[in-house]
Amino acid sequence: MKPTVAPFPTARLRRTRATQALRNLVRENTLSVDDLIWPVFLRDGKDVMEPVSSMPGVMRQSLDNVVKSAKEAQALGIPAICLFPYTDPALKTEDCAEAWNPDNLTNRAIREIKDAAPDIAVMTDVALDPYNINGHDGFVENGEIVNDRTVDALVKMTLAQARSGADIIGPSDMMDGRIKGMRSALESEGYANVSILSYSAKYASGYYGPFRDAVGASGALKGDKKTYQMDPGNSDEALRLVERDLQEGADMVMVKPGIAYLDICHRVKTTFGVPTFAYQVSGEYAMIMAAAQNGWINEDQVMMESLLAFKRAGCDGILTYFAPRVAQLLNS
Ligand code: PBG
Repeated sequence: MKPTVAPFPTARLRRTRATQALRNLVRENTLSVDDLIWPVFLRDGKDVMEPVSSMPGVMRQSLDNVVKSAKEAQALGIPAICLFPYTDPALKTEDCAEAWNPDNLTNRAIREIKDAAPDIAVMTDVALDPYNINGHDGFVENGEIVNDRTVDALVKMTLAQARSGADIIGPSDMMDGRIKGMRSALESEGYANVSILSYSAKYASGYYGPFRDAVGASGALKGDKKTYQMDPGNSDEALRLVERDLQEGADMVMVKPGIAYLDICHRVKTTFGVPTFAYQVSGEYAMIMAAAQNGWINEDQVMMESLLAFKRAGCDGILTYFAPRVAQLLNS
C-alpha cells in the first residue's frame, strides 16, 4: 500500500479528529457486547457470593446466584459465559475423578444455566487442575506431567460437559493431541455441534496468580507449568500450536494472557483468519482494578481501552471479568 498522505497543509490529519461525529465516523475498530465472554467462578453451597480478594468486584458464586448472573448476562446481550469451579479441597485427588463426575459443580451449573437462560452459550474449562491434589493441569507420575493418560481423562471430562449441555468446550491444559481426542469423541457420541475453543497459545505466565487464588489452586500447585504452557519468549511456536489445533478440529482459538501478547493475537488472526479470542486474565484485571482503586487511572476508560486493543489486534472477542460492566456501559 502506497502512503496516502498529501503534504501539509493539504493533508491535516487532525481534521478527522476535530469533532466527536467525525471521530465516530472514521473509527476503524469498535468494541461491542457481542465480543464478550464472561468468566465466572463457581462455589458449592446456597446463596454464596464470596469476594475474591485479589480480584475486586469478582465473586465466587453458588449455583442459585450463578443462574441469576447468567440470566442478567443474557439480558445484557453477552453471548457466552465461561465456568470455573472452586473445588472443595476434599474432592482433590491424585486420579482427579471429580473432573468427569456428571454431578460435579461445573456439570450441575451447565444444566441449571441452560435450563434458566437457554440463549447464552455456556463455555467450560477442560484441565485437571481444579481436581488435582498437586494443582497441575495433567496427571503427575514420578514428578512429570504425563501427556497421553491426561488426554484420555480430558476426553472423559469433555464428554461429561457435553452431556450436561455445554455449547463450547475450552481446553486450557496445553497437552498434545487433546483436540483430536475431544473432537472424535464428541463426533462419535452425537455431539457434532459442540464447539471447541482451544486455548492454543497459552503461556506460562505470572498473570494467572489471582485466578489460582479464586479457584483455590495456589496452595496446591507444586512447581510450575513450564513443561506444558508456552515460553513467553516464543512467537512462531504459537502459530504451530494454532495450526495443529485447527487441523485436529478446533473451531476457534485463543491467545492467553491478553495485553502482553497482542502481537500473537495479530499474527494468529492474519495468518489463519479463524475466529480468534484473547483472554484478559486475572492478573490483568487485578492490575487495572488496583491502580483504579488507588485513583491512579480511570477504571472505565482503561477497561474500555484495554478491550478495544484486542479488537484492533484482530481478535473477534475477549474473555474478560469486566464483561457485565462493559455490557452495561455499552448498552447505556
Ligand atoms: C487452568 C486455567 C488457568 C486459567 C484458566 N484456566 C490458570 C493456570 O493455567 O494456572 C487462568 C485464567 C486467569 O488468570 O484469569 N487450566
